[in-house]
Amino acid sequence: MATQDAQTLVLCTLIDGPLHGYGINAAIERLSGNRLGPGSLYGALSRLEGKGLVESLPGEGRARPVRITERGRAVLEREARSMARVTERVFESVRPDEVRYLDRVAASDAGRAYKGLMLDALAIRPGHTVLDLGCGPGTDLGAMAGAANGNGSGSGRVIGVDIDEEMAARARERTAGLPGVEIAVADMHTLPYEDGSADRARTDRALQHAADPAAVLAEVRRVLRPGGRIVMGEPDWDSLALDHPDRAVSRAYTRYIADEAIRNGTLGRELARLAAGAGFTVPTVLPVVSVFRDVQAADAVLGLKRNTERAVAAGYLTAGAGRDLLDHLATGPFLATVTLYVVVAEVPAG
Ligand SMILES: C[S@@+](CC[C@H](N)C(=O)[O-])C[C@H]1O[C@@H](n2cnc3c(N)ncnc32)[C@H](O)[C@@H]1O
Repeated sequence: MATQDAQTLVLCTLIDGPLHGYGINAAIERLSGNRLGPGSLYGALSRLEGKGLVESLPGEGRARPVRITERGRAVLEREARSMARVTERVFESVRPDEVRYLDRVAASDAGRAYKGLMLDALAIRPGHTVLDLGCGPGTDLGAMAGAANGNGSGSGRVIGVDIDEEMAARARERTAGLPGVEIAVADMHTLPYEDGSADRARTDRALQHAADPAAVLAEVRRVLRPGGRIVMGEPDWDSLALDHPDRAVSRAYTRYIADEAIRNGTLGRELARLAAGAGFTVPTVLPVVSVFRDVQAADAVLGLKRNTERAVAAGYLTAGAGRDLLDHLATGPFLATVTLYVVVAEVPAG
């Protein structure tokens, strides 16, 4: 924990009255989830005393209670106000609507990189019938239609499937006039298509939300022709690494995302096994690591503030640890990484 953070934590614990060292550390543990080492605690106390922000009351050695001074209160209030301004400026407080969020991910460096890989891995040929399962607002349908239609010469079909009527309507609007593109409102667990009727299928962060990914894969296996191929791009949220001096805090955040926020939070690493179980061969497993060095770019994709608040509400982080996490992410040099797996699975040729 940084020296300045330790001093701020000590000041916070003294707001309601004097405490001695043991009491201060117990209060810090309640606030942040962790105790300070004796060196950090007594180092912070002696620096604060040197600056006139705390004073010792009569007592013996380390058992002497310590009290915050008026100056200490003023410093703490100033720090709290400035921290609130920093986090307000840095993080989004309201989640953008789903379509705006998906557009944003697609336009980000990380989004463009893995979507390009997925398109290449699909190897769509003129005349192919391609299913985009959980197509959302139809972001990727145009590029696939270009390939399936040989950029004007072929007669391929690209079908965007989504369970959400509003998403499907948006995809229809966005692809109006594109030859060979259709949109269907359907559940990917029960596809309204004949056995062996499609050449290619794709899921892009959609299977992570499915009630039963194994059942979806069995259904896709039914609908693809022998030699057909599915390309899946699904994150492994358990790989989300936020740089924070206290690993217990960043791990708790990641655990909340992987175990609670996303239905199939570790699907990325499971795809190859599930596809093999559904009768596919799996020639390619490609981990794509997104690296965020800018907190606002990361927030736009990861929703750092709202997810921290949810992690606190769900009991994964204490309120103090949540505040500490956001303060650190907003002010320190920032680094976060997460792995998405692009997995290619094929139906054995008949
Ligand atoms: C994270 S979005 C991804 C959208 C799009 N693939 C993209 O990359 O922008 C997930 C989409 O999957 C859809 N979805 C979730 N469960 C589904 C299901 N069982 N069947 C069909 N679509 C589903 C959602 O409605 C949503 O539009």
